[in-house]
Amino acid sequence: GSNADATPWGQENDQADPALKDASIISQTEAMFKAQYNVVTPENVMKPENISKAANTYDYTAADKLIAWSKANNIAVHAHTLVWHQQSPAWLNKGDAANRASAKANLESYIANVAGHFKGEVISWDVVNEAFSDNTSTFDGSDWRTGLRKDSPWYIAYESGADASKGESGADYIYDAYVAARLADPDATLYYNDYNETYKFEEIAQMAESLNEKWATDSRNTDPARKLVEGIGMQSHFWVGQDPDVDATEVETTIARFVQAGLRISVSELDISFAANNNYHLDEARQAQQAALYGTLFEIYKKYADNIDRVTFWGKADLQSWRSSGMPLLFDNSYAPKAAFWTVIGLG
Ligand code: XIL
Repeated sequence: GSNADATPWGQENDQADPALKDASIISQTEAMFKAQYNVVTPENVMKPENISKAANTYDYTAADKLIAWSKANNIAVHAHTLVWHQQSPAWLNKGDAANRASAKANLESYIANVAGHFKGEVISWDVVNEAFSDNTSTFDGSDWRTGLRKDSPWYIAYESGADASKGESGADYIYDAYVAARLADPDATLYYNDYNETYKFEEIAQMAESLNEKWATDSRNTDPARKLVEGIGMQSHFWVGQDPDVDATEVETTIARFVQAGLRISVSELDISFAANNNYHLDEARQAQQAALYGTLFEIYKKYADNIDRVTFWGKADLQSWRSSGMPLLFDNSYAPKAAFWTVIGLG
């Protein structure tokens, strides 16, 4: 069946409606989740700022609670995320660590610690999240590194002290991150995850191809049949009626390019939001419009079912979504299924 995302408790969602703290809502969420889903992604509790506030200090309490709940309910865990320009503590790559040698040492010890802690408990990792710039015009068409976010603290730190004559650049944090993750948890499937993927797919595909080619001759590679970057998470944060809208051609072109690169695909953070609807009332026409867009996507997902590992929604019900004002999910504010739900399960 289709899968979902986020923790069953919701208390870590900063923007959540205060009603979420209500015990009855939490138990409704949990019942709904157990009935509908078979894999979960933690929305916030595995992000670096929540796991490690200071150098060599790790707190796994909240994430371990999620793992225990998932195990008890036979729900797999996809882990999110190790390396990101947001929600990350300063000690990793800022201040005294804003140089290539320190950032590399910190990146490797962070990943060894965290991916090591969850080894055997998670099926897959978003190793690097959102490394590419939204300004796709910087991408020169053939060198993926030209498309990266140059203002990521990871890029800045790795650039400081890079020897350009040896081909080094700020981009090198990405390869180091995947190698560290593979060494820490060899059984986890390693993903790259990004949004606006229907604009950025060529850079993303070239990055994966290039890192996988490099890994093929890396002396640390003990399984030459296996890629280093194995899959792409297509976040799939869409809008109703504005960019990125659900464009079937663009979505299919994107999937096909990743398949061509030999990569697995996950739809990793799906939601389709109305722009500032913000009134907690979806009339029938709007429900139908949103349901049709979900339907378009799921027709494509079914066509590529052999290549798609999971479809994850970014949140459980509209009221606790990070885009709650746009009512983007399959379940409404009372955890009742919307028209989109019936379309997705094929009964719309
Ligand atoms: C969001 C969460 O949903 C929010 O609760 C948090 O305040 C910010 O992050 N891309 C990602 C996710 O990869 O981690 C983001 O999640 C949404 C965009």
